[in-house]
Amino acid sequence: MTKYLFFVLFLVGVGIVACTKDKVNPADNPPPISSACPDTISFANDVLPVIQSKCFSCHSGTSPVIQDYATINNNASIMLKAMRGDGAQLMPQGGPPLDTAFIQQFNCWIQQGKQNN
Ligand code: HEC
Repeated sequence: MTKYLFFVLFLVGVGIVACTKDKVNPADNPPPISSACPDTISFANDVLPVIQSKCFSCHSGTSPVIQDYATINNNASIMLKAMRGDGAQLMPQGGPPLDTAFIQQFNCWIQQGKQNN
């Protein structure tokens, strides 16, 4: 009986460890470039217009300042977290989240070295 109990506890333990291991933060583990980022993302054409229209209005005065290539480059990883509402407050504040497709592009832009292209 005791053996059986230990076995059950062991299984529960393994289960807990397995579940916790699955919960990785997606922002920390972006998908590999080859499969998820077939195209080179353009900062000027793909990234800037969306950030400009969705974030600049509040973030010229609100920290973190987000207003041009340099500030986007500096804040890219916290911005990605904020867009996902994972690891930072969900942004745009009070508005609907950005399109998943754009968030993916932004993620790819970061993976591709945050080019000013
Ligand atoms: C309506 C105004 C508004 C808009 C639009 C907005 N933000 Fe914010 N954002 C704020 C305010 C206000 C704060 C500070 C909140 C606080 O400290 O409680 C903030 C905080 C942040 C932070 C820090 C979050 C944290 O948890 O530390 C990031 C990153 C951010 N915003 C990114 C963005 C991005 C990226 C966009 C566009 C997709 C955006 N914001 C759009 C008002 C806005």
